[in-house]
Amino acid sequence: PAPGWASEADVVVVGSGVAGLTCALRCAAAGLRPVVVTKARLDDGSTRWAQGGIAAALGEGDTPEQHLDDTLVAGVGLCDEEAVRVLVTEGPGAVHRLIETGAHFDTAADSDAIALTREGGHHRRRIAHAGGDATGAEISRALVEAVRARGIHTIENALVLDLLTDDEGHTAGVTLHVMGEGQHDGVGAVHAPAVVLATGGMGQVFSATTNPPVSTGDGVALALRAGAELSDLEFVQFHPTVLFLGPDAEGQQPLVSEAVRGEGAHLVDADGVRFMAGRHELAELAPRDVVAKAITRRMLEQGAEHMYLDARHFGAEMWAARFPTILAACRAHGIDPVTEPIPVAPAAHYASGGVRTDLHGRTTVPGLYACGETACTGVHGANRLASNSLLEGLVYAERIAADIAAHPAPATARVPSLHARVEADAEAERDPTAAGQAPPAHPLLPPEARFALQRVMTEGAGVLRSKQSLARAAGALEQIHAEARTALAENGKTAEPGTDTWEATNLLCVARVLVAAAMRREETRGCHWREDHPERDDADWRRHLVVRLNPDRT
Ligand code: SIN
Repeated sequence: PAPGWASEADVVVVGSGVAGLTCALRCAAAGLRPVVVTKARLDDGSTRWAQGGIAAALGEGDTPEQHLDDTLVAGVGLCDEEAVRVLVTEGPGAVHRLIETGAHFDTAADSDAIALTREGGHHRRRIAHAGGDATGAEISRALVEAVRARGIHTIENALVLDLLTDDEGHTAGVTLHVMGEGQHDGVGAVHAPAVVLATGGMGQVFSATTNPPVSTGDGVALALRAGAELSDLEFVQFHPTVLFLGPDAEGQQPLVSEAVRGEGAHLVDADGVRFMAGRHELAELAPRDVVAKAITRRMLEQGAEHMYLDARHFGAEMWAARFPTILAACRAHGIDPVTEPIPVAPAAHYASGGVRTDLHGRTTVPGLYACGETACTGVHGANRLASNSLLEGLVYAERIAADIAAHPAPATARVPSLHARVEADAEAERDPTAAGQAPPAHPLLPPEARFALQRVMTEGAGVLRSKQSLARAAGALEQIHAEARTALAENGKTAEPGTDTWEATNLLCVARVLVAAAMRREETRGCHWREDHPERDDADWRRHLVVRLNPDRT
């Protein structure tokens, strides 16, 4: 593509969920000039889909210490305790600041106190919610309005491509491919000494997921290409209760929030028998990995495609008042939870791992930060505690903004011009053998590769894994990669640059790392379940797998 536009900012925030928009607002409040770039529209990410709520020690008698204990237990020995302590102690204040920003939470029937519910792994009512089961939509509305009211510069339909760095390896901005946004159309760059990756998760790496179509691991893939460290990618959380729409259902599936169980719904098997009671002291409210495994086991035992969530006893009034979103989604698919149990099965929900950061959201590349689901701050360990994700986005976004404001980056020595980069790439494509140049290691994949790799991942690296299943997945991913390289070598060109080709390429990039990490971890812990290593192995595996791109390999 011809070199396009360039602009400047103090901070580029990539992504517009709770983490990205909170960070941009706090940066602006600190006197910095942030630019928010987002792949679709400002409210198109995962945040809008969050149902259950946001966890914080807000209730009478609750304390950050108790929240810490529940988080550490759910994380099965792999949480970074200091990171969790930051989360739970700064959490209540961050929620109050979100309320000051304009978010409205549901209140108790008889007072102005925030109404709190329970979810898996919490020993207390600790989850604040909005609109019954539309918490994320309310948070997104409030943050988008605040960003607009503050006049923060936003660029929508802007797919982030790569990190720019200066001669010293310090962050110098990002390149973007923008579609249909007037002055910023086409490929361009925003130069800035700080970049915050808040691009959400990578649930689209699997066939069935609660994540929206935009969750394609773009920030994690960018960070990997930029040389940053990733951690814990093998810990993919499968939400236990996702509305079952058939064995071949693909793409984003409707979530049935844990809050439904928090309010007393039961899981029953094909014979109508409750199977969680007696398996865990918290029964249906055991941590999410425990419930997802129990459901999967029961499905295997019974040869069933799904289990059921029974909440008929709520009655029509409570269903309509407390869970309007879920009620509407079920009815849209011909299921009435007021009169029948809901068919549910686990589906990919959350990446507990991501771009490795310290307690201030700094990655291992100077000036590059990561926040929210994109990041691995260490708070989730091997399994994220329910409703800690919105909280993590809030708390660590505030920390990142504070860190950027407190440490103005040194003036960048030399920003590589976009022009030079584009020419260098064009040269490599024209003559791949010239001057010892190898063809680009990551040719763009055709859009249909997305669906092929999703099936490969679901079959080989899903809820239940083994050495054999992972090896098959790894082989099939290499095949997809090899086909794209062969097409490039034989035809001299790669798939047409665009959102769908970049998304497929990023998905392959994160899928390969995920599978490699899942193969390495020869134990069962949290949401990583190995059929061939069914026990937790603290002697060998109470440690993290950290990954960084080896520039000598593809
Ligand atoms: C849910 O509402 O069950 C999802 C909450 C979460 O992912 O933490």
